[in-house]
Amino acid sequence: MEADQRRMITLRDEIRKLDYHYYVLDDPLISDTEYDRLMWELCQLEQKYPADVPPDSPTQRVGGKPREGFRTVKHSTALLSLENAFSFADLQEFDRRIRRVVPQASYLVELKIDGVSVAITYEEGILARAATRGDGINGEDVTANVRTIKSIPLRLHDPLKRLEVRGEIFMPKREFLRLNTEKEEKGERVFANPRNAAAGSLRQLDPAVTAGRALAAFVYDILLLEEYSLSSQEEMLLFLQEQGLPTNPLTKSCDTIQDVYEFCLEYEEKRHELPYEIDGMVVKLNPLAPRTQLGQTARSPRWAIAYKFAAEEKTTVLRGIELNVGRTGIITPTALLDPVQLAGTTVARASLHNFDLIKEKDIRIGDHVLVHKAGDIIPEIIRPLKEERTGQEQEQEILAPEECPVCHSQVVRLEGEVAYRCENINCPARLKESLVFFASRDAMDIEGLGPAVVNQLVDRGLVNDIADLYTLTMESLLELERMGPKSAQNLLDALEKSKQRPLHRLLTALGIRHIGAKTARALTQEITSMEQFFEMQADDYMAIPEVGPKMAESLVNFFAEPRNRQTILRLKELGLPMQEFNSGSSTAADLPWKGKTFVLTGTLASMTRKEASEKIEALGGKTSASVSKKTAYVVVGDEPGSKYDRAVALGVPILDEKHFLQLLQENGQ
Ligand code: IVH
Repeated sequence: MEADQRRMITLRDEIRKLDYHYYVLDDPLISDTEYDRLMWELCQLEQKYPADVPPDSPTQRVGGKPREGFRTVKHSTALLSLENAFSFADLQEFDRRIRRVVPQASYLVELKIDGVSVAITYEEGILARAATRGDGINGEDVTANVRTIKSIPLRLHDPLKRLEVRGEIFMPKREFLRLNTEKEEKGERVFANPRNAAAGSLRQLDPAVTAGRALAAFVYDILLLEEYSLSSQEEMLLFLQEQGLPTNPLTKSCDTIQDVYEFCLEYEEKRHELPYEIDGMVVKLNPLAPRTQLGQTARSPRWAIAYKFAAEEKTTVLRGIELNVGRTGIITPTALLDPVQLAGTTVARASLHNFDLIKEKDIRIGDHVLVHKAGDIIPEIIRPLKEERTGQEQEQEILAPEECPVCHSQVVRLEGEVAYRCENINCPARLKESLVFFASRDAMDIEGLGPAVVNQLVDRGLVNDIADLYTLTMESLLELERMGPKSAQNLLDALEKSKQRPLHRLLTALGIRHIGAKTARALTQEITSMEQFFEMQADDYMAIPEVGPKMAESLVNFFAEPRNRQTILRLKELGLPMQEFNSGSSTAADLPWKGKTFVLTGTLASMTRKEASEKIEALGGKTSASVSKKTAYVVVGDEPGSKYDRAVALGVPILDEKHFLQLLQENGQ
């Protein structure tokens, strides 16, 4: 009895913490199945002691709490959730209850898309509002973000007075994979599954971030519709489709619960072939009229049920950890497992993503571990089964390496990132990528030095270090496949020419994290020779207005690595001047366009927009995307946009291409 009370308190605390991570941080700590298990245990106990259930118990709440930053909106109709069925017996029970009221019941079975539930309102046929489900009563206003989702029409086919639909926003498996790979390369935390990725993408305060993620949607219910009457779920989906809304075509109309179950089993098999994740099927009474009669419980309607698929999780043993160095220097740990069959394939390796995760989950070599596939694709360890430990498991924690497993250089970790990186630009694991970047247009712009040539140069041992590029000879180049004397000479000429690039280009070319072309330029306006970088401290960098703490930290780490310094000194010996000769010895304040902002609109005949910006920046000016009273000039090319009208309205000076070129020339560009 007392033990039960203690257990309930522990469970509530634990579930609150899990809820916070899941709903607010979009970063679940455990799998859904395990969460359900804890919730189930708490419900069982609370049923035993109903008088002791506090109003703030997690069982008394329907869904997530709206996160700060979004406006809260009250749904016009509550967004209910569904009861779950886990077996044929559960489905039969549901069918019996329905047939008591509707003896001739027929069902429409849909896929249960694993995404984020939203309500979208159209007024006079125009998308007016979109909100997340939230707790079912109040949600978050995510209109701006939903507008960026391409499959959701901003205008319906007919100017319906008012239509409110409910649907699911989801992230396709491929996009999930792409996004997590990108996040890993950037040293950021990955999303646990496509649903969290969809939620995280939708709940971005900046809609541009949402727009950059390929989200998709299906709608499946009408919450409110004026001046129309529909008679069945099937007809409703057809109507929604006719209005241009995305509906899922994979539905089946069934007259018996046996048929329903068979269709559920069919998709339990086929789920891995779908391009998006589903976590079950939704069985709905097809005719709409009897639904009101059946009514609802506190949180779910009696006319529908969710058939949930069994979670695909397996237990296996963690035998070891393999460290890999990626092309950007990130060191990722991979788990080596006893092979198991999981979601259609044999799994012997699992991604561990980063060392924080290993620590958080307390994973040790020798552990029995629970594995699943995130997004149906990426094998992952959910958690170790600590109860299975025998004491034989490696006592030591799995720690992040102090040196790169490939080149033994120092490993650094930047503030705010989960990744550990090898800092050596010449690390064999990174070298090819470093070279391609070094030669790229924004960097040293070495024509003819693309991935195909770089691959051969490294594989044949002709280049082991970036500086080796400048020791290449006609003879060595002729060893390469598809390299004749003419292209070899061109490459040698391009290399020679690249030696004359100003310091900011070299700085960009070194591929220092967070230091792009723009920052490099800002840096070299103050720090005009390479040697000075060797002496700089973080504070010195931060004194430059464009440089933030992340950039400063990254610069210090880069120049602290002896191998990087060595490469730079070799480059100098090989004839690279390492001076910023644009500004020469003059300071930035002397540059003629210092403090002037330019806006470009339309197409210029003589140069690309990027080239124009570079020229402006070389003279100390800045380019901006929008016109204000403070804009110095609006440069107008062919077919200008609305910026031109705005410039006229604000009385901002306008330059056509001819005058712009003239002005550049007068200033030596
Ligand atoms: S119908 C009142 N249909 O599953 C009926 N739900 O609890 C509302 N879901 O939160 C739900 N696919 O977000 C329905 N085809 C589908 C669905 C679906 C996914 C989600 C929905 C809801 C949860 C069920």
